[in-house]
Amino acid sequence: MHGFSYKNGSLFCEDVDLSTLAAEHGTPLYVYSAGTIIDHYTRLDAALDGVDHEVAYAVKANSNLSVLRLLATKGAGFDIVSGGELFRVIKAGGDPAHCTFAGVGKTRDEIVYALEQGIYSFNVESEEELRYLDKVAGELGMIAPAAVRVNPNVDAKTHKYISTGKSENKFGVDFTAIEELYERASKELPNIRLRGLQMHIGSQLTSISPFIEAVEKVTPLVLTLKEKHGIEFWSIGGGIGIIYKESLESGAVDWWESQPLEERPLTISRYGEELVPRLKGLGLKILLEPGRLIVGNSGVLLTKCLFEKRGSAKTFKIVDAGMNDLIRPALYEGHHEIVPLSEPPTGERFKVDVVGPICESGDFFCQDRLLPDFQPGDYIALMSAGAYGFAMASNYNSRPLPAEILVEGGTATVIRKRQTLDDVIAGEL
Ligand code: LLP
Repeated sequence: MHGFSYKNGSLFCEDVDLSTLAAEHGTPLYVYSAGTIIDHYTRLDAALDGVDHEVAYAVKANSNLSVLRLLATKGAGFDIVSGGELFRVIKAGGDPAHCTFAGVGKTRDEIVYALEQGIYSFNVESEEELRYLDKVAGELGMIAPAAVRVNPNVDAKTHKYISTGKSENKFGVDFTAIEELYERASKELPNIRLRGLQMHIGSQLTSISPFIEAVEKVTPLVLTLKEKHGIEFWSIGGGIGIIYKESLESGAVDWWESQPLEERPLTISRYGEELVPRLKGLGLKILLEPGRLIVGNSGVLLTKCLFEKRGSAKTFKIVDAGMNDLIRPALYEGHHEIVPLSEPPTGERFKVDVVGPICESGDFFCQDRLLPDFQPGDYIALMSAGAYGFAMASNYNSRPLPAEILVEGGTATVIRKRQTLDDVIAGEL
């Protein structure tokens, strides 16, 4: 499911009218549906029922404390990439013992903090990092639990900026070098406990085949590591894609699941059906690190149209959100559906560019797209903005970060206040 639909001509999130929220709290405004987040987490967890597993939500996708708290209460673990994300998880009531720490460049401070908090595993991306982790743990008189990230050299067939499992990417250790690395580590690094193996081939994958290819390729390796080094877990990463196009009608998990098999290359149930049989005999705990799947379709960015500018070549709708609020279109040519908050009375469409106020030509949300009419003063929603939306927002052009709201049924709660201008300059001299 997802929690967004028109009721009596107005776009609602669950039982809350989005126009009312926009008028009350101002725009740009992020709004999330708690029911959608829980539904997606629960479905994925259930799809893996056949194996011993844990869903470790990738905090980077949306790290608001209330979102983390919601997932923590449902029993989620967390995949973090910085000391800051660990701090957030702890503040939100998450358990560090269910945290994995990813990333190619962990600092000494971050390692010390994570060791002291007792995280489940450091997911290490190079031999240099593993040796450094051993050194820091030794200095503290501690043992660091670790897994190395294997780069399986599988093509995820996604945007080049979010593909990570090929040899030319900076991530992980070559598939062919892993066994020897575990050998050396077990002999030479007394402060490391080799606890698992990790992989992640990319993000926004819309086909099951790269997942199958990677799992089948790495299975013999993981079994060898289990036999020789007693590893107990295998994290198969995140990366399950979501529907961005026509997301109001079709972005719901139910809709996708109901389509004929050939038209739904990747759904939660398909993911489980294909992977569980391949994973269940291994005798390992399987970790998943989904981010986008859990929160992507649960959020929208509301913005107000300020002006319509008719140029000689194009018509621009200038809105009050910019690429600093949602950078995905500028950075990855990411597609977000754009819908008015008041249901359009006719099916008539007009070709427009929706652009923000930032001084960059890349500051657009769509180009030459046919959209229903909306006018200055009207609100629109940028759909599927729950993942890598607010989390990637910045103060570029000295614009305050937008507010965030979490809707649960008929209740809307401000889970992050809009920044003030004083907040924007806080800390500067
Ligand atoms: N695990 C690791 C090691 C990762 O690097 C990532 C994402 C995930 C899990 C979660 O992937 P997901 O399930 O969300 O696809 N900002 C980009 C996406 C960057 C993904 C980075 N790594 C975007 O907006 O499309």
